[in-house]
Amino acid sequence: MKKLVLSILGLLFISTSVMAQEVNIFSARHYDSDVQLYKKFTAKTGIKVNIVSGKDKALQKRIKEEGKDCKGDLYITADAGRLGAFQSQGMFQKGASSAGIKKVVPANFRSAYWTGIAKRARVIYYNPKTVNPSWNMTYEDLADPKYKGRVVIRQSNNVYNQSLVASLIKNNGAKNTETWAKGLVSNFARKAKGNDRAQILAVAAGEADWAVANTYYIALMLSGKKGPEQQAAAKKVKPFFPNQDGRGTHMNISGGGILKHAPNKANAIKLLEFLLTPEAQKHIVNNTFEYSMIDGVEPNKLISQFGLGFKQDLKTKVSSYGKLQAKALKIMTEAGWN
Ligand SMILES: [Fe+2]
Repeated sequence: MKKLVLSILGLLFISTSVMAQEVNIFSARHYDSDVQLYKKFTAKTGIKVNIVSGKDKALQKRIKEEGKDCKGDLYITADAGRLGAFQSQGMFQKGASSAGIKKVVPANFRSAYWTGIAKRARVIYYNPKTVNPSWNMTYEDLADPKYKGRVVIRQSNNVYNQSLVASLIKNNGAKNTETWAKGLVSNFARKAKGNDRAQILAVAAGEADWAVANTYYIALMLSGKKGPEQQAAAKKVKPFFPNQDGRGTHMNISGGGILKHAPNKANAIKLLEFLLTPEAQKHIVNNTFEYSMIDGVEPNKLISQFGLGFKQDLKTKVSSYGKLQAKALKIMTEAGWN
């Protein structure tokens, strides 16, 4: 009996001292592969990773409501617009650009409050049997009346679209973007609906010639993970990287920021730095089909087959997306983009 009590006390002691080494993640990324990555981090560092996963709105609400009592250290999500908007509400603290992070993440993909951990490109899809984009086709061209009734894109409430439109405002100004949005809406093949994959499917089915969606979705469909029908449809469609003659293709990020009341800030920085190692980046690109945030890690073959040498927009800071998100949504809804 005495022995048992002693060993329980011993276990309690060990577990409380281990518990001190932890990091709490609030994640809106819905990938099982992220969890595997956190396990690798724990194996390497001994730092336990606790994950609260959920949808962005719910997580953000919880973080705000809990205030100082929030145990979250890191908020991880997709889209720079989301990170930027949350930052503007004062929910992050500085620290996400440690020397280690600055060294590997280009300046346009991070701020003092958050950093990208993977890149995504939002591109144009087409059916090569029916249309052929000219090499210098742009997002701006999608508003050209010659594409009347031939374009599909998801709704204006989608944050990826809001970030894309924010980048247009940043580069072309609000007035030009208003005109563009009206032109685009009048080219819609149908009311905006569905997710990114639904746009690719619409092109495969001949409902439209042009769609806008992120690159990783076609890889996901081609991988067979979304079933044989979507796999077959994806084979009929090709991604096109727009704006090659100008600023480059619109880039966005998955990223993470250190929460204002983070109890384990140092561990949160360590985790971000780990996510940016070649080992972790390889794991990410091969599971989510995003692009690596750091140099020297090639995308998965399902993505690299479409070309590696495309020009990315490295000029437009992704931190501008959050700042212009509300303006973007206003322009979109006023143009009749449902
Ligand atoms: Fe997505």
